[in-house]
Amino acid sequence: MFDKKTIIKGVSFMNYTYKNALLPPMERTLNLLSLMTLEEKVGQMMQISYNMVNVTEAEQWVKNKFAGSFLHALGDNADRLQELALSTRLGIPLMFGIDAIHGHALLNGATVFPSQLAMSCSFNPSLVESAGRVTAREVSADGLHWTFSPLLCIGRDTRWGRINETFGEDPYLIGLLASAIIKGYQGKNLSDPGSILACAKHYIAYGESTGAKDAYDTEVTLRKVREVFLPPFKKAVEVGCATFMTGYQSIDGTPMTANKKMLKDILKDELGFDGFVVTDWNNTGSLVDKQKVSPDISDASKKAIESGNDMIMNTNDFYGATLKLVQEGKVSETLIDDAVKRILNIKFKMGLFDAKKRRGYISTDVIASKEHQEINLELTRESIVLLENKNNTLPLNNIKKIAVIGPNADSIQAQFGDWTFFSHPDPNPEAVPNFEYYTMLRGIRELAESKNIEVTYHKGCDIMDKEDIDIEGAVKACEDADVIIAVVGDCLAMNGEFKDRATLDMPGSQQELLEQLKKLNKPLAVVLVNGKPLSIPWIAQNADAVVETFNSGTLGGKALADILFGEFNPCGKLSISFPYHSGQTPVYYNHLPGWHSPKYADLSTAEPLYSFGYGLSYTSYKYSNLTLSKTSCSSKDTITVSVDVTNIGKCDGTEIVQLYVNDVISSVMTPVKELKGFEKVQINAGETKNVSITLSVSDFSIVDADEKYVVEPGDFEIMVGPDSRDASLLKEVLTVF
Ligand code: BGC
Repeated sequence: MFDKKTIIKGVSFMNYTYKNALLPPMERTLNLLSLMTLEEKVGQMMQISYNMVNVTEAEQWVKNKFAGSFLHALGDNADRLQELALSTRLGIPLMFGIDAIHGHALLNGATVFPSQLAMSCSFNPSLVESAGRVTAREVSADGLHWTFSPLLCIGRDTRWGRINETFGEDPYLIGLLASAIIKGYQGKNLSDPGSILACAKHYIAYGESTGAKDAYDTEVTLRKVREVFLPPFKKAVEVGCATFMTGYQSIDGTPMTANKKMLKDILKDELGFDGFVVTDWNNTGSLVDKQKVSPDISDASKKAIESGNDMIMNTNDFYGATLKLVQEGKVSETLIDDAVKRILNIKFKMGLFDAKKRRGYISTDVIASKEHQEINLELTRESIVLLENKNNTLPLNNIKKIAVIGPNADSIQAQFGDWTFFSHPDPNPEAVPNFEYYTMLRGIRELAESKNIEVTYHKGCDIMDKEDIDIEGAVKACEDADVIIAVVGDCLAMNGEFKDRATLDMPGSQQELLEQLKKLNKPLAVVLVNGKPLSIPWIAQNADAVVETFNSGTLGGKALADILFGEFNPCGKLSISFPYHSGQTPVYYNHLPGWHSPKYADLSTAEPLYSFGYGLSYTSYKYSNLTLSKTSCSSKDTITVSVDVTNIGKCDGTEIVQLYVNDVISSVMTPVKELKGFEKVQINAGETKNVSITLSVSDFSIVDADEKYVVEPGDFEIMVGPDSRDASLLKEVLTVF
């Protein structure tokens, strides 16, 4: 590569402004663009999937067609391709993308964080940012540049296979955590060695597809897009997220790839997004063979370009089709220039032309380093939610023997969840992580043994395998135990793309297993290891304690054990509602008013089983003295809301104080309440803390029938409490004039 001295001295580089690292990225971009042939430009728009081509084809894509990017190429394969790219006429480096969704987890040996859904229960933007930083360092050490994360879809219908990838159901929380992780990935400067590109996906309303059928049609209006789905993406633009990925779905019959209004008009022109848009996997090809809005790849490519897609993931026919379209004058070259300009500008901004973005610049020692594990443990502990704790069953106390039962007690695959080397890119059920990890069993066993408590284990049954059942054996293993810890849930086969569910019941024979364990009349603590909320009213009623861990990653077992034995006081709160029954989905707290019925005729309540924001602790808190700094103000004002929170229990704890707002009367229906702020506060036993949250009244805007953002004068209920349920919230009224 060029060091600064060579560049400055290099008179012969006069025409090669783009090689001068001292010049601004856009100047270098424009120079490079002016030197490129049409073939080189369209090549930059191509993202080739390494697993879909053979080695020779991959090399040809670089040498002959000047591909701009690869996804899922790792290690030596990536290095070899990069060498080739640097040796082409203009030496434009490749950009390597990877789904490092919760850690650089496609790499066996890297830190695996809790899934996005799990980490969102921490309500801790600062720790989520740190997780992003750690991931960025590990991805960079591996010589890669770009993660296809975070996912900003709203998790409403929990039958959807990708619920585990969401930050839950609330647009405000999603926007906040997404901004945090984006900052973590991208660091202070994109050009820093440990910074990678983030990708806000899947733009937009992808999770809302009808019947929770992944990548299907979405029945949302533009007003609803603006009100519910756009705000998190807007935040991503504001924090400088460098790339966006489009969804597989369509909105009202228009596939996202062909949706100029959403991509060009709203994202690029209105929100001012100046990074580049990548399609999802073969989105362009799908216009022809799945969504059937294009007769052939030529029409599909034209639509993709004209709608505002810049980089094309895994539709390799796009290359030839687009060359022809431009050569025949059917697509203007200025559109190609705009896409390539965006891509190159990011390449320059991130210092891709410099050696520090290559493998070897950051030592691979950072991968799963001690420091990274410490951050992971902190986040994992804060991500776990205590859902039930009857008669103070937890923390465990005065026991001599524990029976750990259940198919997820010792399953690292189930614990890791989706987007790890178990699930992608090649399904490899035999994979064994080559680093220290803690299944639930291991975590419990180590901590129990250090306290001279005996642990027995029995799997009881498998989740999917109908032959692998030994409930009798499991019951027997509990005979002389003082407490039973049943670790149940779901598995990879029930989460992820192509894995939407019709029911949300506890799969396999686990329900029967639990019912038999219950008959033993011993304290029964249920630990859930699952990708999504399951409908578990029986467990809620019958278990003495319930702990939700979702997919908790490498250190799930260690964090769980800390909680079970009271070394850590649980403080996570649900970022997503749990239905009583799958027929109740979608069920979410920020719903509209006006349902004719108070509830479904065959369910006892309209409420979810567990609500958004809910979670217990080993202590309890009392809320009092809710005060507004003013009770009437203009829409341009800010107000400060304060409340006293007292820890009335016997141990210190951390509480997530939540603030909701309801626009009492509005010109269009608005949600019964919406989260507008929260504070996570540490409060010692017996202590009272005065917690203040400042709000901009402009954030109370609604999207009116003309799709305009307006704060309508009138009353707003300001509600503060420990969760989203009406009965938990103190309320005051603010009048906006
Ligand atoms: C998923 C994306 C992912 C991409 C690349 C697609 O199937 O929808 O979320 O980033 O594959 O792996």
